[in-house]
Amino acid sequence: MLSEVEACLKIMTIKKNTLSRVLGTQGDKKINMLLQLQNITKGYGQPGTHSYRPVLKDLNIKLQQGEKVAIVGSSGSGKTTLLNLIGALDQPESGKILFKGTEISGYDKKQLAAFRNKNLGFVFQLHHLMPQLTLWENVLLPLLPQGNKISKEQKDWAEHLIRKVGIWEQRNQKPSEMSGGECQRTAVVRALINKPALLLADEPTGALDQENASALTELLIQLSIEENITLVTVTHSVEMAGKMDKKYTLRNGMASPNPSEGGE
Ligand SMILES: Nc1ncnc2c1ncn2[C@@H]1O[C@H](COP(=O)(O)OP(=O)(O)OP(=O)(O)O)[C@@H](O)[C@H]1O
Ligand SMILES: [Mg+2]
Repeated sequence: MLSEVEACLKIMTIKKNTLSRVLGTQGDKKINMLLQLQNITKGYGQPGTHSYRPVLKDLNIKLQQGEKVAIVGSSGSGKTTLLNLIGALDQPESGKILFKGTEISGYDKKQLAAFRNKNLGFVFQLHHLMPQLTLWENVLLPLLPQGNKISKEQKDWAEHLIRKVGIWEQRNQKPSEMSGGECQRTAVVRALINKPALLLADEPTGALDQENASALTELLIQLSIEENITLVTVTHSVEMAGKMDKKYTLRNGMASPNPSEGGE
């Protein structure tokens, strides 16, 4: 139970302050650049041995603040591997990752955890809600490690988000008493409770039916616009990818950017 909570907390954002976006201060060009991945390589196994499996090779990606980006590619092309690097859950073998101009690829584990907590929110294919907690408790859970009592302001923000995604009536229900779409919307609220700059989603609509998938896609786009959150979503859905500002296709370990035009 404890390790479950810890795992849960690890992937959540822990950010106290208001949603003011921290903009760069080093000239106009840098102001809107949120994240850059430069010449990234990443594989599994021991490099230099036959067990080594290269996944990402010389990959480059740039994300502007507030941009909505889809990552697409066939199964095994490295989408989750890439998201884990962007989400500071894993480190590249070589190359640089810059967040607001600061290199995070050299951070140690503690620095990476602090970075994740401050800046990132995660939504996965399966919602990973705590089954014994209600919707309301699940949403507030990421605030607990801050050590303080949950403030009125934080509760108001939680209520605002829950109402916004249309599940206020369900707030006292547990995940087993909610629909798949309601659980996934709860997971989105939980990911936003600490007001992250960057929301990472790995096939967030993968377990939903068409109607709920479309609704969740619209919701993520709406939240990204209204709260100025940069959204990176891995998806197999052509519909979802088509609604983002940009689409990166992973192929042969590299990412090619295309303006999103509604098809792969
Ligand atoms: N921990 C690991 N150890 C060894 N190989 C791994 C590990 N994680 C992923 N791989 C391999 O790396 C490759 C890329 O995996 P990844 O999970 O990033 O693909 P994906 O594009 O997300 O696929 P899917 O669409 O099926 O989720 C796959 O061939 C996978 O087998
Ligand atoms: Mg994957």
